[in-house]
Amino acid sequence: MSIEVAIVPAAGRGTRMRPATRVVPKALIPVVDRPAIQYAVEESVRAGAREVILIVDPGVGTLTERHFWEEGPLPGLRDVRITPVVQEIPHGLGDAVLTARQAVADRPFFCLLADNIPPPGGDVLPGMAEAFENMSVVCLRRLTPDFLERYGVIVPGTWFGENVVEVRGAVEKPGAADAPSDLGLIGRYIFTPEVFTILENLPPGLGGEIQLTDAISAMGEAGRCLGYVAGQDLLDVGNPLGLLEASTVLGLSHPEWGTVYQAYLARLVEEL
Ligand code: G1P
Repeated sequence: MSIEVAIVPAAGRGTRMRPATRVVPKALIPVVDRPAIQYAVEESVRAGAREVILIVDPGVGTLTERHFWEEGPLPGLRDVRITPVVQEIPHGLGDAVLTARQAVADRPFFCLLADNIPPPGGDVLPGMAEAFENMSVVCLRRLTPDFLERYGVIVPGTWFGENVVEVRGAVEKPGAADAPSDLGLIGRYIFTPEVFTILENLPPGLGGEIQLTDAISAMGEAGRCLGYVAGQDLLDVGNPLGLLEASTVLGLSHPEWGTVYQAYLARLVEEL
């Protein structure tokens, strides 16, 4: 089944990226030559999306919107409908997703967290879309113990081949001691519209916020969610070191500057 709509929750305050994000929204921090959020929009379009809904803070919505329209549509995004939806008060990722309910309506949709960018050639949405039939699919990676307090972690059930696993439940940032597995949610999801009904009725979870992971858990417990294990990690631009790493990886493969940058890095490393 083809999926034509994507949402990109981009209303986070970017506390891990201070002071860069005191004024500039996290989603507009540049990575090589474009802001983080543009990577997510382009990635969803590569996977077939023709409509992208950006979930933004009240204050910065216009700024993010202007990025996509200021001087006319961006190359490659000419035929894509990009709509901002404002999350008035931040109540967590689950609440952000719920904000897009009306715009998404009764369609399955991609959900992409703009902090995470696939490395060149590492798109995961096509593999997830292949696993998608009529139940939600979440993207997973095996995590080392120290990461289990930074990611949502699933309870795995039956495996269908090497990459696809039944999700029986999920816990938000459980930490190594309480993690039900080492399979973490890495910021790429395909949801059926039933996620909205679940989110609407969820009590606040970890940190008093409406947690997307809790909605995934509810779908898993009802036998309505699959996990897709990605072949490689996504880059994480949500913290300073991750941003440096992502800039290097994406810079090295940049069609215009990749070769020159590679030579520069090689010289730099030699001098170390
Ligand atoms: C969010 C989700 C978490 C997920 C992570 C992926 O956490 O709540 O379940 O594993 O994104 O990056 P955040 O990074 O916003 O704290």
